[in-house]
Amino acid sequence: MTFRQISFYISACFALVVFGILLFFLQEWKRAAMAGAVFFVVSYLIISTILEKTINDRIHNLYKLITNLKLGKDLKEALGPYRPENPIAEAEQEVSAWANQKISEIGRLKDQAKFRKEFLSNTLHEFKTPLFAVQGYIESLQDGMLEDDPAMAMNFLTKASRNIDRLSYLINDLDEIGKLESGAVVLNIERFDINDLINDTIEYLEDRSSTANIKLKMANKTTQQIFVKADKKKIQQVLINLVENSIKYGKSGGTTTIRTSPLFEQILVEVTDNGHGIEEKNLARVFERFYRTDKSRSRDIGGSGLGLSIVKHIVEAHQQSVHVRSTEGIGTTFSFTLQKAKTAAG
Ligand SMILES: Nc1ncnc2c1ncn2[C@@H]1O[C@H](COP(=O)(O)OP(=O)(O)OP(=O)(O)O)[C@@H](O)[C@H]1O
Ligand SMILES: [Mg+2]
Repeated sequence: MTFRQISFYISACFALVVFGILLFFLQEWKRAAMAGAVFFVVSYLIISTILEKTINDRIHNLYKLITNLKLGKDLKEALGPYRPENPIAEAEQEVSAWANQKISEIGRLKDQAKFRKEFLSNTLHEFKTPLFAVQGYIESLQDGMLEDDPAMAMNFLTKASRNIDRLSYLINDLDEIGKLESGAVVLNIERFDINDLINDTIEYLEDRSSTANIKLKMANKTTQQIFVKADKKKIQQVLINLVENSIKYGKSGGTTTIRTSPLFEQILVEVTDNGHGIEEKNLARVFERFYRTDKSRSRDIGGSGLGLSIVKHIVEAHQQSVHVRSTEGIGTTFSFTLQKAKTAAG
């Protein structure tokens, strides 16, 4: 209800009462009606002025304050001298919209705080293991192992060095994720042949795959050229992480197949293995940082659970998408899209 309507109804009630009293005493309805009408007009003017001046102005100020808070100070002036037709209803609407916005902001902040806490404890956990191992090896060396058993001492030095390497990989991975998340990474987009890059990646990982007795192959004809537009180095990182996983979580004697297929405006790249697979309940979480399935932990395969998180960030920084499908005991396929380069110039 607007203030004018409120004033109208209150004045009408008063006027009716005055009309009734006068009619009772004067017994002349014409004069009583005239007096009632005059009373109605006067009281309407007085009540509406009072309401307007006292309540309306205050609510209007409140409304302005809320709107400014919502819009941010810069837009304060843009609001201008706007006076809402029905300030009570509009203020109510603004307050409830504002409250909803605050509730979702608080929820987001709580999620972020929880995420930061988890992230910190995961990071500490991942750092502690290699750090304590190095500490142990160094203490043994200090306790006279260098003189007593030089061969064992050499072995311990190698192990310590491996753990230091692990720490430095961890720092690099975390640094990479941090940069990708903050948007500080500028993609160096170029036109290149994705099949060529896949062949390079296979060559790069061949030693590791033959040690694990896993065959790496391309499903397409290796000579076929498929041009895409992307950051070549970063996409190679994606391919390495996915193929490395297929080796780490594959079965001895297995095969990893990499396939590229053209879509409408994109190229689909699929990395398929016939390894142990991922349980359905874990599928949605494998892209989370530090997430490792119980199986990979219990089989004690090295890794910190950052590889797929980096994959997802890189692919999404290209405005493309990455997916996983897997059947336990049969195998896993990770797929991602890339933007097709349309002409020779890209
Ligand atoms: N091809 C795959 N087959 C089965 N499980 C997989 C496969 N790829 C990933 N996983 C599961 O997903 C988890 C997360 O993979 P991710 O690459 O992020 O981490 P990681 O390989 O454990 O460590 P990092 O890559 O940081 O060295 C793995 O620990 C593993 O449990
Ligand atoms: Mg990995």
